[in-house]
Amino acid sequence: MGMRVVLWLCLLPLCFDFLRAVAGSEGKEYNRNDFPKDFVFGVSTSAYQVEGAALEDGRKRSIYDTFAHRSISGHEIQNPDVGCDQYHKYKEDVQLMVETGLDAYRFSISWSRLIPNGRGPVNAKGLRYYNNLINELINHGIEPHVTLTHTDTPQVLEDEYGGFLDPRIIEDYTSYVDVCFREFGDRVRYWTTFNEPNIFAIGGYNVGITPPNRCSSPFGVKCTGGNSSTEPYIVGHTILLAHAYAVRIYKEKYQAKQLGFIGMNLLSYHFSPVTNKSEDVIAVRRSNEFSIGWFMHPLTYGDYPEIMKKNVGSRLPIFSKTESKLVKGSFDFIGINYYTVMKMKDNSISHTQMPRDFYADMAVEWLMVPDTSGVSKELMYPNEAWGLERVLEHYKEVYGNPTIFIHENGQLSNYNTSINDPFRIEYIHDHIGSVLNAVRNGSNTRGYFVWSLLDVYELLSDFYSTFGLYYVDYNDPNLTRHPKLSQKWYSEFLKGNYTTTTGMEINQVDNTTTLDALRYSAS
Ligand SMILES: *[C@@H]1O[C@H](CO)[C@@H](O)[C@H](O)[C@H]1NC(C)=O
Ligand SMILES: *[C@@H]1O[C@H](CO)[C@@H](O)[C@H](O)[C@H]1NC(C)=O
Ligand SMILES: *[C@@H]1O[C@H](CO)[C@@H](O)[C@H](O)[C@H]1NC(C)=O
Ligand SMILES: *[C@@H]1O[C@H](CO)[C@@H](O)[C@H](O)[C@H]1NC(C)=O
Ligand SMILES: *[C@@H]1O[C@H](CO)[C@@H](O)[C@H](O)[C@H]1NC(C)=O
Ligand SMILES: *[C@@H]1O[C@H](CO)[C@@H](O)[C@H](O)[C@H]1NC(C)=O
Ligand SMILES: *[C@@H]1O[C@H](CO)[C@@H](O)[C@H](O)[C@H]1NC(C)=O
Repeated sequence: MGMRVVLWLCLLPLCFDFLRAVAGSEGKEYNRNDFPKDFVFGVSTSAYQVEGAALEDGRKRSIYDTFAHRSISGHEIQNPDVGCDQYHKYKEDVQLMVETGLDAYRFSISWSRLIPNGRGPVNAKGLRYYNNLINELINHGIEPHVTLTHTDTPQVLEDEYGGFLDPRIIEDYTSYVDVCFREFGDRVRYWTTFNEPNIFAIGGYNVGITPPNRCSSPFGVKCTGGNSSTEPYIVGHTILLAHAYAVRIYKEKYQAKQLGFIGMNLLSYHFSPVTNKSEDVIAVRRSNEFSIGWFMHPLTYGDYPEIMKKNVGSRLPIFSKTESKLVKGSFDFIGINYYTVMKMKDNSISHTQMPRDFYADMAVEWLMVPDTSGVSKELMYPNEAWGLERVLEHYKEVYGNPTIFIHENGQLSNYNTSINDPFRIEYIHDHIGSVLNAVRNGSNTRGYFVWSLLDVYELLSDFYSTFGLYYVDYNDPNLTRHPKLSQKWYSEFLKGNYTTTTGMEINQVDNTTTLDALRYSAS
């Protein structure tokens, strides 16, 4: 369904007839009370994407900053170093969370704000900021879920020794997280060591479309150096070890006193074969092993999946016995970011060629590789909510039903047309329904976070396509936040009022929240 059609319909009173038709066809009715009592609902952001104040109060650059500056075209909607400026507006933003009725807020700590040189002295102003934010959340009954690294290795460590390409980072990383546990752990109970290390390794070191932009020909374009045959695996390995040492520190020094939980996050697609031919069905199994098993197999069983060892060969690092023991079982929960289903096609032939990159080792054709030709301005995910249920079933069946938080799920749309967003309601509604199905069938899923609270800077689409429940008006110097229709739906769902997208009353639609009306009233 084209977004334009949806929007057009929703300018008319027909909008809710349309929503009724859509939700009715799904036939899924539920409300918040159908979830276990302690099931957590929240929203997510990450430091560079939401904070702004990139060079204020002693913060130094991360590889995320460098990436954002490298891709600046001169026609930006907003300077990513300012973004939506949560650094100065955190109190206002916590009010938005209260107004929405959230249980929890997932955000990340900027390593180079807390420890600007990557190692050494702690920046008192950075420390104060995160203390203020955490206290503000706690005082309003909102539980902080903290990610320790969200694609933002300090640039200084990248320059010094290549960041996660070098095992030296393990010592610097564990010193940094130790500071976080020590300073914030009396109030923070949920810690995630890394956000999407699988995508960090592939995007950053195989195709080079995300920080730190590394790849080698012919596997990527415009890279700053790299080796797509080896680096993704080296980085993945270093991250697994850094994660495991961080978990050991938390468990040995802090957990008994602070009573918290620690885990890792992975982007998890549901892979679906393009045909029912056995080679495509087997290709889907390989895809699962390469993209999820790459991290989950070591975390659960202490070693890489057999198919990876076979296809990658000597380029895949090896765990020593001690490392294997350290990595195995090193999590209390797994965070999942889920957006869409991926169609997979066998490509066994690629596995006989040299040189090979991650995709060639996996020997599949990934039919929705992100557009690497430039900024995608019109991206929107198909609403394939059933895929999320399948992912949760997969974790349950293959990895012993770990505790799971859905850390990210949400719908992209063009920034300029997205305030009246019934398609986002439909997407979120159906995905929450899919989570409920999995929970009812025994999945140990404990929480769901919408990406994102605000329209923030996005890695692959700048500010052009955004996910926010609140529209941020970047033409307004105050960066005023305006609730979208989806915020109203989520809020009503959280307050227990509505069971379906059909439940909203027509008078809930404030027709002054169209963007034109906003601009009109602002001028
Ligand atoms: C990548 O590293 C491998 C192993 O060291 C080496 O054989 C290969 O030539 C390197 N490729 C590039 C593009 O540097
Ligand atoms: C594969 O088979 C199933 C069951 O027969 C069918 O529902 C599905 O549409 C088929 N998928 C494809 C891609 O042909
Ligand atoms: C969004 O709207 C603003 C203000 O009308 C305009 O300057 C900008 O070019 C628009 N951006 C897009 C991507 O349409
Ligand atoms: C429900 O769980 C059982 C046992 O794990 C599994 O066999 C079954 O496929 C699941 N049902 C669905 C719809 O996923
Ligand atoms: C921006 O905020 C200031 C101070 O709160 C206020 O006086 C001003 O009217 C606001 N401007 C807009 C356009 O909302
Ligand atoms: C939602 O439910 C609460 C509690 O029952 C009630 O106070 C509130 O008015 C309801 N909101 C709407 C929009 O119906
Ligand atoms: C909003 O709705 C009111 C009442 O239905 C109507 O009078 C008004 O013209 C509408 N405004 C816009 C901007 O569509």
